Amino acid sequence: MAEGWQTVKGNCTVCHSAALVTQNRGSREHWAYLIDWMQETQGLWQFNPEMEATILDYLSTHYGPRTDARRQNLPKHLMPPAPQASETSAEG
Ligand code: HEC
Repeated sequence: MAEGWQTVKGNCTVCHSAALVTQNRGSREHWAYLIDWMQETQGLWQFNPEMEATILDYLSTHYGPRTDARRQNLPKHLMPPAPQASETSAEG
């Protein structure tokens, strides 16, 4: 419940649950893109620039890009051979 949360709650939980918002992470650009997308395709209303800045500040600060998340899976061609095809090591 940091600065701006009421603005976000008031505008972003009308059509879907807050969980849809809070399970997402991303940069300011990512959030701005999502808002544009909802405005263009999902009937989200326009925000005045000040309000949009408040929302983007809040989301990019508190739901910014994950740095502690797992890296993406390796592409298949970089994977080691399947365990059943060779001796399995404890280190994996
Ligand atoms: C006018 C209705 C409406 C409002 C208000 C709204 N959204 Fe959405 N939003 C949607 C719809 C519709 C979807 C798509 C839901 C689905 O796919 O089930 C969506 C999806 C999302 C998603 C998931 C996108 C994805 O990649 O799956 C996020 C995150 C999100 N909204 C954030 C927000 C935020 C942040 C706000 C406030 C600025 C907001 N929403 C306000 C309609 C709205």
